[in-house]
Amino acid sequence: MIPPRISLARLPTPLTCLTRLSTSLGGPRIWMKRDDLTEIAASGNKLRKLEFSMGQALEESATVIMTAGGVQSNHCRATALTAARLGLKCHLVLRGAERSPADGNLLLDELTGCRISYASASEFAELDRIFADLSIDYEKNGEKAFTIPVGASDEIGLWGYIEAAAELATDFSRHDIDPGYVISAAGSGGTLGGLILGKHLHGLAGQMVAFNVCDDAAYFKAKISNDVAAWQTRYGQNVPRLPINIIDGYVGPGYGRADEHVYETIRLVASLEGIVLDPVYTGKAFDGFIQELHRGQFKDTDDVVFVHTGGIFGLFPHREQFGNSPTPAA
Ligand SMILES: Cc1ncc(COP(=O)(O)O)c(C=O)c1O
Repeated sequence: MIPPRISLARLPTPLTCLTRLSTSLGGPRIWMKRDDLTEIAASGNKLRKLEFSMGQALEESATVIMTAGGVQSNHCRATALTAARLGLKCHLVLRGAERSPADGNLLLDELTGCRISYASASEFAELDRIFADLSIDYEKNGEKAFTIPVGASDEIGLWGYIEAAAELATDFSRHDIDPGYVISAAGSGGTLGGLILGKHLHGLAGQMVAFNVCDDAAYFKAKISNDVAAWQTRYGQNVPRLPINIIDGYVGPGYGRADEHVYETIRLVASLEGIVLDPVYTGKAFDGFIQELHRGQFKDTDDVVFVHTGGIFGLFPHREQFGNSPTPAA
C-alpha cells in the first residue's frame, strides 16, 4: 500500500565509500548515502518526504502550501522551491526575525516569491493556531491551503525514508556489504522514524541510529513513537514496538549553533573527500559520530553508513565561524 506520491528527487542517490576518511580515522569503512544529491537547489532529505507530502497536497487539490521552520530551514527552502515547480503558492512561517540581506536558504526562499511570515519563539509555540488562521484567510480568498508540519515529519513524510530504506537495501546488496549501523542527524525525527519503519518493512541490515541536533533523546523517542502510531492509524498498518536509537550529547551550544570541533570536522571531510557537510545538521551529527568512534563505538562492524541529508545552503551564514584554522589531523 503506497500513498499518493509525486516524483521530485533523482533516485537512487549514490552510496559512496569514503576510503581516505576511513583510513585516516582507523575505524570501519565509512560509506555515505548521498541524499544531498537528491536535486540541486531543492536538495536533501526533505525532497524524499516532499514526494509524499506534496503528493497528498495535490490529491486534496491544494493551491497553497504552508509550512514552517527556522529562518535558515532547509525544509522550508525545499518546500518553497518545490511548490514553485508545481505551480502552487507557498507560505512560510519562519521562527526568528527578518534578516537583510537574505543569505543561505532564506535567499532561495525569497527568490521563489513565496509569502513569508516571521514569528517570535513564543508566537511559534502557537504554530497550529497560526496555520488555522492562515487557512481561514486563504479559504476566504478562494484558495485551499495544505499544511506540511515542521520538517515534513509526520505520518505522511515518514514514507520518504521508508522508501529510502528499500533503496539502501538494494545498495547494500549491490556493494555486497552488511553495515552494522546506518547513521543520520535528527532534527524533527522523520528521517530516523522512516528508516526505523523502513528497516522493519524492507528487512534493511544494521541499527538505525541518529545524533540529535536539538532537543534531547526523550523528545525524539516520543516524537517518533507518535508519528509511527499516527502512520499505523492512517494507513491501517500494524508494526511491533521498534527500537529508537538516539545518541544524545552533541547538540553543543544549541540548535543552529556549533562549537569549533564541528567546523573542524566539516573542514576535514571537505579536504579529504570533497564532500560538504553543514554546521546545523550533517556536520554536527558527523562530528558526534567521529567522537564516538574515538571512544571505541561503532567498531563491532566492517561497514558504517552515514546518510548525508543535505543542508549545504545553511553553511554560508556560518562563514565567519570557520576562521582560518588549518585542517586538523584526524
Ligand atoms: C540537512 C538536514 N539534515 C538532517 C535533518 C534532520 O532530519 P529530520 O528533520 O527528518 O530529523 C534536517 C532537517 O531537520 C536537515 O535539514
